[in-house]
Amino acid sequence: MSSRPPLRLGVLISGRGSNMQAVARACRENRVNAEVAVVLADRETAGGLAIAQQLGLNAEVVAWKSFADRAAFERELTARLEAHRVEIIVLAGFMRILSPELASRYEGRVINIHPALLPLYRGLNTHSRVLAAGDAHHGASVHFVTAELDGGPVILQSRLDVRPGETEHDLAARVLATEHMILPRVIGWLAEGRLIWRDGRPWLDGRPLETPVVEDFH
Ligand code: GAR
Repeated sequence: MSSRPPLRLGVLISGRGSNMQAVARACRENRVNAEVAVVLADRETAGGLAIAQQLGLNAEVVAWKSFADRAAFERELTARLEAHRVEIIVLAGFMRILSPELASRYEGRVINIHPALLPLYRGLNTHSRVLAAGDAHHGASVHFVTAELDGGPVILQSRLDVRPGETEHDLAARVLATEHMILPRVIGWLAEGRLIWRDGRPWLDGRPLETPVVEDFH
C-alpha cells in the first residue's frame, strides 16, 4: 500500500445507505487507501444513519428541510465537510441536486453513483424505464459531478444483460450488487492517484479518459 495517508471521504446519503456501507467496508478491509471521515444525511429518516453508527463512523444529519433555501443548506454542508477535512465527496444515493456553485467549488472532487448506463436514463425510476423500453442492457455508472444534473464525465460502468421476463425488483437488486463493486473501485483509483481531474476533465493512468471503462457482469 502507498505511503500516502488515507484519502478522506465525505459520504452523502439520503436513504438506505447500502453503497455507503460498501465503501466503508472497502476502507475497513484495506481494499482502498481511504477512510470515511463523515457520513452526512440530508434527512433524519435516512436508514443509512443507523448503519453508519453501527460501523462507528461519524454520522451527522444536515436536514435540508430545516434550511430556508438551498444556499443555506449547502453552506452548512460545506462547513461540515471542511470540519472533517474531506478531500473527496461521494454521493451515495444522495437525492439532492448540488448547486452549480457547489459543484464548481468541488470540481473534480465529487463523484456520484447512478443506477443506469449514463447518458441513458438520467433521473429517477431507471429500472422500470429500462424494462418498459425493452432494453437489452442495463447497469450503473460512477461519474464526476459537474454543474449539469447526472451529466459529468462517466468514469466506470457496470453493464448487465436484462433477462427475459425479469422483474423490476430482481433487476434493481442485480444492478445494486454491481454498484457496491464499482463505487469502491473508483475510490481506489482516486486514492492511488491513478484517476485525477486536470484541465477540466478526468485522466486515468496518465491518459484523458475519453470514454468510460465498462465492466461486464453476468
Ligand atoms: C442507489 O441505487 C443509487 O445508485 C441511487 O440510489 C440508490 C441508493 O441506494 N442513486 C440515484 O438514483 C442518484 N440519481 P443506497 O442508499 O442503498 O446506496
